[in-house]
Amino acid sequence: MNILFVASEAHPLIKTGGLADVAGSLPLALRALGHDIRLILPGYASILEQMDGLQTVATLSLPVTTAPVTLLRGNFPGSELPMYLVDSPEYFARPGNPYVDTDGNDWPDNALRFALFGRAVTSLSMGTVDPDWQPDLVHCNDWQSGLVPALLSQHPKRPASVFTIHNLAYQGLFSWNKFSELALPESFWSADSMEFYDQFSFIKGGLIHADYLTTVSPTYASEILRPEFSCGLDGLLQHRSTDLTGILNGVDYQVWSPDTDSLINSQYEATSPQNKAPNKAALQQMFGLPVRDDVLLLGHIGRLVEQKGVDLIIDAADDILAQDIQLVTLGTGNAALQSRLQKLSAQYPRQVGTHIGYNEPLAHQIEAGADAFLMPSRFEPCGLNQLYSLRYGTLPIVTHTGGLADSVVDASDDAMADGRATGFVMPHADVTSLSARVTAAAELFQQRPKSWKSMMRTAMQQDFGWDRSARAYEALYRKAVTA
Ligand code: ADP
Ligand code: GLC
Repeated sequence: MNILFVASEAHPLIKTGGLADVAGSLPLALRALGHDIRLILPGYASILEQMDGLQTVATLSLPVTTAPVTLLRGNFPGSELPMYLVDSPEYFARPGNPYVDTDGNDWPDNALRFALFGRAVTSLSMGTVDPDWQPDLVHCNDWQSGLVPALLSQHPKRPASVFTIHNLAYQGLFSWNKFSELALPESFWSADSMEFYDQFSFIKGGLIHADYLTTVSPTYASEILRPEFSCGLDGLLQHRSTDLTGILNGVDYQVWSPDTDSLINSQYEATSPQNKAPNKAALQQMFGLPVRDDVLLLGHIGRLVEQKGVDLIIDAADDILAQDIQLVTLGTGNAALQSRLQKLSAQYPRQVGTHIGYNEPLAHQIEAGADAFLMPSRFEPCGLNQLYSLRYGTLPIVTHTGGLADSVVDASDDAMADGRATGFVMPHADVTSLSARVTAAAELFQQRPKSWKSMMRTAMQQDFGWDRSARAYEALYRKAVTA
């Protein structure tokens, strides 16, 4: 099949979160299955700087802007995967990240930026831009590409479409005024299209108009049919539930494997877990913590937002740190959470290390150096760090929600006896559950080191590679194309 994979970020070119990890690896897995899949991204300045040999495919004239828009083509780094970039310097050549400026505020013209991107993707999808290629299917991801299925629905002879929800909490909502600048059909401003409580919702373009919907874990697929998780969209999702499936994300083990990871101090694998120890010592040293093998070292990495439950870690800290436990955290985001984490490390200098910022090598070093990994998320569509943690033998402590529930087996007596346990699962995202599961982890670590090691081995042997999930997408694409 000819497939166009549409995303607003892809690792290693540009990344703010898990979507980049998915967009930088799932297309490669689908290409390995023999498909002509191509990735399309906005031409952010930082991407253009990293790419050599880009060719101009066409200059586009789009109703949404008078600024020049050019479609460029090259290969995704380190691969033969064809990649298109929508180059429009006025909209995409900026400092900051794809969505916010250097102060963390949304770009005021985000509606226009991603409408322009959506229009360029739609032109390519309709075969009017690249004379050599047209997709049979367009796979859109998150609100930034939500306009594409809506625009495609205007064409009777169009490619099939799939829309993947990576996070329902980000919907791309804009005022009527912003909508009116987008030169879209007026019919889009209606409750059965993209209007949502008097705002214009990019994500609804995908949810209503795509042929099939997916999300990134089976549990999240059922959670979002309920008001607690649906961010107001449960009615619509229930209406579309026969077209909605959950396909768990995979891991790119080329990037995230402790036996080949060049960003860590000492490489190790399931048969040589003792080689993990130098990574722990290096991490303790880096954060100025006492270098001790017998203390339980917890790690946390993530965007500092309510979803991730970082506030729960801070609220449970006095309880957790009354035990022989150390904690290192890496994250950036909400200013109040940043300063609370910094205060915590000032209060407990021998137990807590905090790094505020985005730091890819450090993320690998925490995965490799910590004994256990905290992910007390309030909701988690899939979550990737718990999957990385499993492979690094860094036992995840997670909430029973979304992809966390689908990937971590709690250290219950039964699961321990059967050798299935891979982590610690909190029934609820609250301070009591977090404290209790961390205490259970510390007890096991300190009092039953053999059981801990055997759990590490089981965790490291889990296979969450892309192959199975890529085949599930392939089957769905076939259904969509032949419908
Ligand atoms: P989400 O997409 O909701 O942020 P995921 O668990 O799916 O959560 O993916 C997060 C990805 O971003 C992981 O690869 C993680 O290592 C990375 N990440 C998040 N915050 C940071 C940070 N401050 N520094 C480095 N990597 C980070
Ligand atoms: C989102 C979700 C996260 C998921 C990622 C990739 O950012 O918050 O749970 O792993 O997308 O699908």
